Amino acid sequence: MKSWQKKYVVGPRIRTFVGRRDNSELAPDGLLPDAKALADSLINHFEDKTISAHELAALNGAHTNSRQFNFDGPTSGASQDSTPGVRDVLFYNQTVQNNVTKGVFRLPSDVALAAHPSMSAEWQNYSFIIVLLYSFRPSSVSSLSSLKP
Ligand code: HEM
Repeated sequence: MKSWQKKYVVGPRIRTFVGRRDNSELAPDGLLPDAKALADSLINHFEDKTISAHELAALNGAHTNSRQFNFDGPTSGASQDSTPGVRDVLFYNQTVQNNVTKGVFRLPSDVALAAHPSMSAEWQNYSFIIVLLYSFRPSSVSSLSSLKP
């Protein structure tokens, strides 16, 4: 890290638990969230794992960095916002816009969650107040990373 980077490092501090015990067995089916599922079912899926709807709204911001490769073949490689690799809040904004931004692939699960009454207000706030997102997200990431395998 260069000296100016040390001086001006910004962003949240996130308590992270690194590493899982190696296991050669396949994980049981049904543990990953289904991107075609209804919002209520996705929320229940995460609540079963102790992640609340509020936490899920913040965690889904990870899709600001993501690309889908296997969900939709014809658009394989498409990102979930137009600045993949940049940890901004554009993802929240572009998920709720009326028109899909060119080159962006919106996962149906993101669109459904963004409209769900238990998180639509937060989703809207996150789309323009990055400080709000990054003041809440670290504790959510911590909860997620300490889940039992
Ligand atoms: C409702 C919950 C979620 C659903 C249904 C979902 C679904 C998906 C799908 C379908 C993809 C594309 C996979 C592919 O086609 O290659 C994806 C990518 C990704 N998701 Fe999620 N996701 C959810 C929540 C999360 C959360 C909570 C995180 C992290 C905190 C996360 C992190 C990522 C990342 C990093 C990628 C990119 C993977 C890559 O580039 O290969 N997702 N997600």
